Amino acid sequence: MIYVTGDIHCPIDISKLNTKNFPIQRKMTKSDYLIICGDAGIVWKPGSGEDKWWQKWLEEKNFTTLFVDGNHENHSALQAYPVEMWNGGKVHRIKPSVIHLMRGQVYNIEECSFFTMGGASSTDREYRKEGKSWWREELPCKEEHQEAIQNLERANWRVDYVVTHTVADSIICRIDPMGIHDTLTELFSMIEKKLEYIHWYFGHFHGDKKIDEKHTLLYQTVIQIK
Ligand SMILES: [Fe+2]
Repeated sequence: MIYVTGDIHCPIDISKLNTKNFPIQRKMTKSDYLIICGDAGIVWKPGSGEDKWWQKWLEEKNFTTLFVDGNHENHSALQAYPVEMWNGGKVHRIKPSVIHLMRGQVYNIEECSFFTMGGASSTDREYRKEGKSWWREELPCKEEHQEAIQNLERANWRVDYVVTHTVADSIICRIDPMGIHDTLTELFSMIEKKLEYIHWYFGHFHGDKKIDEKHTLLYQTVIQIK
């Protein structure tokens, strides 16, 4: 089984994953997956009791947690984890079953291919302090763009699912006419045109809405992909 949900901002919006709100987990195992579309916040204050407590909470769940990064992540702390290969793509392993899906990767999960690319621009940048609550690495760099394109080339521009935090410009316009357009949403617009895929799941805009047949914005809902 593979489930997907939106921003967690750990611990602010994590209650959607407790047993009461997500009861199917009683039947899940570590071979089942829950994917978070960014703003996970699972690695926020490295070494703090709070980080340790929530990482352990997820580790003790009956499923494997996978997350792409959003804008609200401690990007330097995430990047400090060693990179390892997992199911065909690069990851940071936070706990044995809590895994960060890195930018521009293609993974094979339960015989489905997934393209992942975290990051986004913060709309509340002015209220945040660099290195404490905001990191300039919130937007992918040129090398990460190139890696995404190379990995999609290798996949012949065909995957089953796309999981990101923000989304292509044309979709943003349908959600929020004031939404931020940046180098990443521009890259997604190019990918959108070229890539063959079944469905694109994303978060960031703090709403739950099926935009069209191929795009779903997720926040509080947890839906089954497979
Ligand atoms: Fe968010």
